Amino acid sequence: MKIATRLLFYVPAAFAACPDYLDYALLPHGPFSGGRYNLSYMRPEPACRTFNSSTLETTIQRVSRNISDPDLKRLFLNAYPNTLDTAIAWKGYASGTDEELTFVITGDINAMWLRDSANQMQSYLPVLQASDSPDSLASLYRGVINLQARYLMVDPYCNSFQPPVESQISPSPNPSASDDTVRPNYTNTSVFECKYELDSLAAFLEVSTNYYNATQDATFFRKYQWVAAIESVMAVAENMTVPSYDSSGNVSELSYSFTRLTTRSSETTENDGLGNPFNNGTGLVRSFFRPSDDSTIFQGFIPANMMFSRYLESASDIMYAIGDQDTLASRMCNMAATLRTAITKFGVVSGGPYGDIYAFEVDGYMGQNIMDDANIPSLLAAPFFGYLDVNDPVYQNTRQLLLSANNPYFMRGPVLSAIGGAHDGPGFAWPMASIVRILTSNDEAEITQQLQEIVSSTDGLGLIHESISTFNGSDWTRQWFSWANGLFGQMILDLNDRKPEILQQSFQGGEDS
Ligand SMILES: *[C@@H]1O[C@H](CO)[C@@H](O)[C@H](O)[C@H]1NC(C)=O
Ligand SMILES: *[C@@H]1O[C@H](CO)[C@@H](O)[C@H](O)[C@H]1NC(C)=O
Ligand SMILES: *[C@@H]1O[C@H](CO)[C@@H](O)[C@H](O)[C@H]1NC(C)=O
Ligand SMILES: *[C@@H]1O[C@H](CO)[C@@H](O)[C@H](O)[C@H]1NC(C)=O
Ligand SMILES: *[C@@H]1O[C@H](CO)[C@@H](O)[C@H](O)[C@H]1NC(C)=O
Ligand SMILES: *[C@@H]1O[C@H](CO)[C@@H](O)[C@H](O)[C@H]1NC(C)=O
Ligand SMILES: *[C@@H]1O[C@H](CO)[C@@H](O)[C@H](O)[C@H]1NC(C)=O
Ligand SMILES: *[C@@H]1O[C@H](CO)[C@@H](O)[C@H](O)[C@H]1NC(C)=O
Ligand SMILES: *[C@@H]1O[C@H](CO)[C@@H](O)[C@H](O)[C@H]1NC(C)=O
Ligand SMILES: *[C@@H]1O[C@H](CO)[C@@H](O)[C@H](O)[C@H]1NC(C)=O
Repeated sequence: MKIATRLLFYVPAAFAACPDYLDYALLPHGPFSGGRYNLSYMRPEPACRTFNSSTLETTIQRVSRNISDPDLKRLFLNAYPNTLDTAIAWKGYASGTDEELTFVITGDINAMWLRDSANQMQSYLPVLQASDSPDSLASLYRGVINLQARYLMVDPYCNSFQPPVESQISPSPNPSASDDTVRPNYTNTSVFECKYELDSLAAFLEVSTNYYNATQDATFFRKYQWVAAIESVMAVAENMTVPSYDSSGNVSELSYSFTRLTTRSSETTENDGLGNPFNNGTGLVRSFFRPSDDSTIFQGFIPANMMFSRYLESASDIMYAIGDQDTLASRMCNMAATLRTAITKFGVVSGGPYGDIYAFEVDGYMGQNIMDDANIPSLLAAPFFGYLDVNDPVYQNTRQLLLSANNPYFMRGPVLSAIGGAHDGPGFAWPMASIVRILTSNDEAEITQQLQEIVSSTDGLGLIHESISTFNGSDWTRQWFSWANGLFGQMILDLNDRKPEILQQSFQGGEDS
């Protein structure tokens, strides 16, 4: 998807007088930054913001004071609040109950992705505090967790969903999905797209872990459908360890398959919906799609297995804390440990010029795909999502390869050099990958260089775009991609703690783009 599709956008009645942010984010608005890159102001009018948080406003002011460069400061000011400003399409309660629900759109697409919404919330994790107030970030988090649980009960193999009926927001048509494999239990009014991506399940565990770790609120997880949703997650994960052939050589029954009518090979799967063969005995969980929503080449997708293992382990603490769920909690723990062993055994490739490295995808035969894609979970992001320490030697070897021309999706050019992916194709670098590079680096020169490239490549608009042509800074995708903006803000907060002197630097001296 290179161009945002207009018909997918929806303006809530309460904001009818407000400009469509798809249009708003395409044009520059004053006051301008006053810096070399003359960045636009991009926050909506206060009356048009979709959620207000005084905690966030205070944080933005506090951190902005530490940023010396006018363009970096402006980018932070625009980007960090973008999800709250523009993407909380509805917040309310499940009908007739006190169960909070939050419908978070990705930005330019009026649907809620499990992955995006978990990560959109994660950008505010540094400022999350326990609170019962419906105006709090804690309430937003609870609403996302409850709505994700509901979605997982509809069909745990899907990645993206329609507004809850209580919101009275109309479902959005998804013409590209109209000929997809028919699933037994949903309609196009409940599901937007049904690509099975292991990291979507990990995202539910992630947002749950983040909320629990910040609030210690075990009571909440006992109240609604969370335990049942975890049962669904575990059923999918266990079923998706099934190999392609059973021990007698018959083709295994699989509880999921996917085909689509399309001219893009990454939008459908091999072997009439089954994907490429996956070997027995790896212990890895198969994934049909990547976090870019492109199909995997080999279904042993290592970054999602890492992320799933990491958050399964932490979410098992919640399951233990709930009480009476020790069996399920230990099932979670055991699978987390099995996956870690499997990743080490099948996900590490030896013998190349970089030493031992992690593969991006494996099939459990001898098939290994050596690359990385910008979307999180990526291999580059493994320390960011807490699977391993940044100094892990295998990670460091892998990182060297991924940030070189030996990664088939490392894009280079004068505008921006960063990892991209098959989603937007060769020649397009993703700022999200530059942000992850900063989050996983201690090298000040590297961090400064990445910041310089990000600040100078917004085409004057002052928002984080999805991808940018490495040779033409005016050629980019998605003016309204909320997740990447929040992630940028989270990264600035991280630098403010870790390396505040970098925020004192000037970024006015970069090459012309
Ligand atoms: C900044 O950009 C705006 C909008 O394109 C333009 O009107 C203005 O002249 C620019 N300012 C400078 C100093 O370049
Ligand atoms: C946010 O605050 C502004 C006033 O500053 C108000 O007009 C707007 O309605 C508020 N937004 C929400 C979603 O409450
Ligand atoms: C940056 O902000 C923090 C508080 O947010 C403060 O403690 C610190 O001194 C500031 N650093 C600089 C260099 O101003
Ligand atoms: C099917 O979806 C409905 C909600 O649309 C849900 O209540 C029900 O439990 C689901 N059934 C199965 C078998 O998943
Ligand atoms: C759902 O599918 C039906 C039948 O193909 C179609 O008429 C309708 O417009 C679709 N609704 C949405 C929201 O896509
Ligand atoms: C898992 O597989 C079992 C046995 O084939 C099936 O009954 C069940 O519905 C599947 N569950 C999921 C979530 O795939
Ligand atoms: C998978 O391999 C294990 C041994 O590694 C064997 O016990 C099991 O029967 C095999 N299962 C299938 C479905 O081939
Ligand atoms: C394998 O398939 C054949 C043919 O359908 C069938 O006769 C046989 O019982 C199957 N074997 C197993 C172990 O299911
Ligand atoms: C919980 O948060 C603390 C710091 O706030 C962090 O050190 C710890 O790793 C977190 N635990 C998990 C499981 O995320
Ligand atoms: C750069 O991209 C823009 C937007 O797609 C396009 O209008 C322009 O012609 C491109 N410039 C060059 C030199 O190709």
